[in-house]
Amino acid sequence: MLEASPWNAERAQEIVTKHAGLEGPMLPILHALQEEFGHVGESAVPLIASALNLSRAEVHGVVSFYHDFRHEPAGRRVLKLCRGEACQSMGSEALAQSLLGRLGVEWGGTTRDGELTVEPVYCLGLCASSPSALLDGEPLARLTAATLAEAIDEARGL
Ligand code: FES
Repeated sequence: MLEASPWNAERAQEIVTKHAGLEGPMLPILHALQEEFGHVGESAVPLIASALNLSRAEVHGVVSFYHDFRHEPAGRRVLKLCRGEACQSMGSEALAQSLLGRLGVEWGGTTRDGELTVEPVYCLGLCASSPSALLDGEPLARLTAATLAEAIDEARGL
């Protein structure tokens, strides 16, 4: 996974200004901020609101609406676990609940050691191999509790 830069208000302002003139600038700005910093934190909201002449609540609403945007920096590794229909029919929810319980995190949360963030996705296009997930962009297919735990322990260096 690419390293995100630490938050920098000046750099964030440059990114916002660069995209503010686009038609429909909000999503390009949010994507660019997330690409640079790995998340779109609260500090970004007033910058965007001011540049686009929107209220902070409006910007906040958009950031929260899209699951793609992280509100806090992610862990060193990111697991995107599918909660789509096909995966659910193959037991992904039980898999997810057991994993989240074992790691002691909620959806979108990061383990205390900062190693792993677990995020939901809603179909990865791997329905035929469900339940499925992406670990740092690498597909994991036909998951069982055991294979998922193994992949994660290996990724965390356990
Ligand atoms: S529903 Fe999970 S990959 Fe399609």
